[in-house]
Amino acid sequence: MGARLLCLCLLTALLGYYIYSPVPEDIAQPWTVMLASSALRILGHLSEAADVLGLKHYMEVLRLFTDAQLVPPTSDENVTVTETEFNGVPVRLYLPRRAPGGLRRAMVYIHGGGWCLGDAGMQGYDLMARHISNELNAVVVSTNYRLAPPHHFPAQFEDVYSVTKFFLQSKVLAQYGVDPARVCVAGDSAGGNLAAAVAQELLEDPEVQTQLKAQVLIYPALQALDLDLPSYRDNAHKPALPPPPPPPPPPPPPPPPPPPPPPPPPPPPPPPPPPPPPP
Ligand SMILES: *[C@@H]1O[C@H](CO)[C@@H](O)[C@H](O)[C@H]1NC(C)=O
Repeated sequence: MGARLLCLCLLTALLGYYIYSPVPEDIAQPWTVMLASSALRILGHLSEAADVLGLKHYMEVLRLFTDAQLVPPTSDENVTVTETEFNGVPVRLYLPRRAPGGLRRAMVYIHGGGWCLGDAGMQGYDLMARHISNELNAVVVSTNYRLAPPHHFPAQFEDVYSVTKFFLQSKVLAQYGVDPARVCVAGDSAGGNLAAAVAQELLEDPEVQTQLKAQVLIYPALQALDLDLPSYRDNAHKPALPPPPPPPPPPPPPPPPPPPPPPPPPPPPPPPPPPPPPP
């Protein structure tokens, strides 16, 4: 009995040690953040283990996490949700049910996930697209794209570009009752990178008549050349973020100042007065 209890205590302590990660004080829901952070860590370790054991590729295991969060395209009282394809690329469409009151705004949304993960059908993206569609009375095209590692760059860009270009055609915009002057592209993380690339490429494309009104880039991955920037430094040790790259070596300390010169030796005592001459 005693041994079992001891084992249980030890296991609990080890589990606590594994799950616990310090959370900065200015975070509103520290337990949520800590649990999310440890879930990501556990998932990372499981994926590494499966990869090392030759069971599955690291990314395939992480993709199970994406798949676990998929929700079906369900319409609600405010928004009609359907799945279709634009130029052969699967998209999830959100059409507001409210009276349009004129032509509507539209947003092409590109999900994140490091070009390897994520899906327009994940619960978080689905909720956000629904909310935007309802609040802004806007058509939202939440696009999927082929993912790495099976599909290499530039497949990701080609897919989202093809979707945006298809949607921007006058006849397609008219079909959905969209105002050509109020279409934007948006995305988070890797999706922010793709959204910026789409916006730039459209400017150069002679076949495109309708231009975007705006791009919305949510913590976009725009460069990987310099990771020693203020935001990387500020967030280096925050939970749920990958560990920072090693810091550059500190500059060599300045040479120590030369020691002060030794104080001048005290003047020699005056010689004793000569003894008085003997009388
Ligand atoms: C529908 O929209 C109203 C008003 O914006 C909101 O209060 C309600 O929660 C929405 N319904 C759903 C299912 O999101």
